[in-house]
Amino acid sequence: MTTPAPTHFDTAARDWDQRPMSQQLAAVPERLLAQLPLQASDHVLDFGAGTGLLSVPIAPKVAQVTALDMSAAMLQVLNEKGFANITTLQQDIFAGLPGRYHAVVSCMALHHVADTAALLRAFAAALHPGGRIALVDLYQEDGSFHGDNDAKGVQHFGFATEALQALAEQAGLTDIAFSDILRLQHRNGRAYPLFLMTGRKA
Ligand SMILES: C[S@@+](CC[C@H](N)C(=O)[O-])C[C@H]1O[C@@H](n2cnc3c(N)ncnc32)[C@H](O)[C@@H]1O
Repeated sequence: MTTPAPTHFDTAARDWDQRPMSQQLAAVPERLLAQLPLQASDHVLDFGAGTGLLSVPIAPKVAQVTALDMSAAMLQVLNEKGFANITTLQQDIFAGLPGRYHAVVSCMALHHVADTAALLRAFAAALHPGGRIALVDLYQEDGSFHGDNDAKGVQHFGFATEALQALAEQAGLTDIAFSDILRLQHRNGRAYPLFLMTGRKA
């Protein structure tokens, strides 16, 4: 068996929360939660959870959070935060999901997955009927956000919302809506808007 090569995220994990981008993204959870109805008994899947930007503020509001990420180092930082109802799951999203969820949330992870249609199908399959998605990512950009796109595993330069909506509907999701959630100020002097995409399984 070969040991997988460390990813950009494995290398960046220890300082992830201190990055200026992460500090700006800290505004996302409260805004996302304002548009995601959750019950105390819910089980939420955080896709590309990283060090827990979404998982940590969601955990006190629900019964269980599964924080899924390929990067062991990112999840190690999250585990050290010591939340009893956050279960970390180190695997690829396409390796099969062990549970059924009342909501799937994600922040800045969609653009790292090449096959967006398959990703949305995986989310839909993992949701209980009536379960919700709340997904945050970049609107379509010109590739300047990450700059070194290959090294950072970037598969999409953000998303066109019409195309994303069509894929979500093909996956069996409905009531798809987009709202502006944050403008990220980049050190290159530009601002990059992020969307929140919400919807539910029919
Ligand atoms: C930009 S980071 C976002 C982390 C966190 N959500 C945040 O906003 O701080 C994207 C994360 O998605 C994870 N990721 C990317 N593709 C993945 C896949 N196919 N399966 C599981 N995790 C994946 C990466 O390991 C990385 O930790």
